[in-house]
Amino acid sequence: MNNWKSGRKILLGITGGIAAYKIPALVRLIKKAGCETEIILTESAKNFVAPMTLETLSGREIHSDENFDFHIPHIKLNDWADVLVIAPCTANTLAKIAHGIADNLLTSAVIAAHCPILIFPAMNEKMFENSATQENIKILLNRGVKVIAPSEGDLACGVSGKGRMNEPNEILLEIFRTLSPEKNLKNKNILITAGPTHEYIDPVRFISNPSSGKMGAAMARAAWYRGADVKIISGPVEFNSYGFEVIKVKSALEMLEAVKKNLSWADYIVKAAAVGDYRVKNFSAQKIKRAASADGQENKNNFTVELEQNPDIAAEVGKLKRENQILIGFAAETQNISENAREKLARKNLDFILANDVAAEGSGFAVDTNTLRLIPRDESKNEKIYSGLKEDIAFEIWNDVSL
Ligand SMILES: Cc1cc2nc3c(=O)[nH]c(=O)nc-3n(C[C@H](O)[C@H](O)[C@H](O)COP(=O)(O)O)c2cc1C
Repeated sequence: MNNWKSGRKILLGITGGIAAYKIPALVRLIKKAGCETEIILTESAKNFVAPMTLETLSGREIHSDENFDFHIPHIKLNDWADVLVIAPCTANTLAKIAHGIADNLLTSAVIAAHCPILIFPAMNEKMFENSATQENIKILLNRGVKVIAPSEGDLACGVSGKGRMNEPNEILLEIFRTLSPEKNLKNKNILITAGPTHEYIDPVRFISNPSSGKMGAAMARAAWYRGADVKIISGPVEFNSYGFEVIKVKSALEMLEAVKKNLSWADYIVKAAAVGDYRVKNFSAQKIKRAASADGQENKNNFTVELEQNPDIAAEVGKLKRENQILIGFAAETQNISENAREKLARKNLDFILANDVAAEGSGFAVDTNTLRLIPRDESKNEKIYSGLKEDIAFEIWNDVSL
């Protein structure tokens, strides 16, 4: 289960749009992820990306109408593929496949496909908005083909609008979402808190912790792969948020407010943020100056910051949540891990807690790996230990916490 992303076979069709220049970068990412790719180029795509570049990066010969012969590559490539991706997909190819036309190797491969098909249209805004294109997209969606709408932005034709193909790393994420072996969170709403909070002393200084938000982001990505709609309420950290709605907050109080506002939307709430337990009581609206005495010597007087306790967001959610909402908490501990985690599970009315020894090497804050113990409130369910890359264990955790 951990390695479901590697070794996947991606049949990649490239058509004659300007966004084809991004595809060599996608091919590199596919290889880096441990997947294989076979590439079909339309004749007009050859004007936009060099076959030799793609051959070198994929390590395989390119397929095109030149070798569309008695070897029936459109059938053989389909027997090999786990997914057929067309990126970029021109208005022309989109129209052909919507109407079952099979006049070249790529469109013949599409009509022979028995794996999922994923399409990334990219074109000038007017071409995209044209009712013929929109109707063709509807036809394909109704047929179960996944069409990822282009984004807004600067287009190669010199105007700005909707028609831009997704970036290569986003295309790869969509490929993995399509290939995910589990789709059990489809139509589920997942609310995740992630990252640290900043508790300000004055406008330029704050108290925080080293949380990177990686575990929360990994839980979010794994839920998204499984088909969920994901909202992240995040402290001040950066992560790849493609596909998520992100609500940025700074302090624990802001995070609590955002959680309350979005609580009724959620089927699952994952509290992966490292929320500051205390905030500054005597916040200074002006920057606190380094004090100097009258003789110009440095004043050695200490400066005292008084702290007051922040609300416990998980416990607040535990009080407010509906019967059928699942609340999953994390417990960052440095000692008596299980005992402390169990106490929190009961006190905060959590359904599951993931206990984390943040003092252990390769576990906890700001690293890519983690070791977690899952403790369910329902004693008929087993405890479980996960160890490995955060993104891999997050996918496994959803096997055990989703109903
Ligand atoms: C410079 C240039 C850029 C083009 N860019 C696009 C594009 O981004 N999207 C699109 O749908 N068509 C674009 N076209 C038109 C297609 O290349 C044309 O429809 C072609 O027949 C597509 O063939 P194919 O779908 O077999 O690859 C462009 C044409 C030219 C000359």
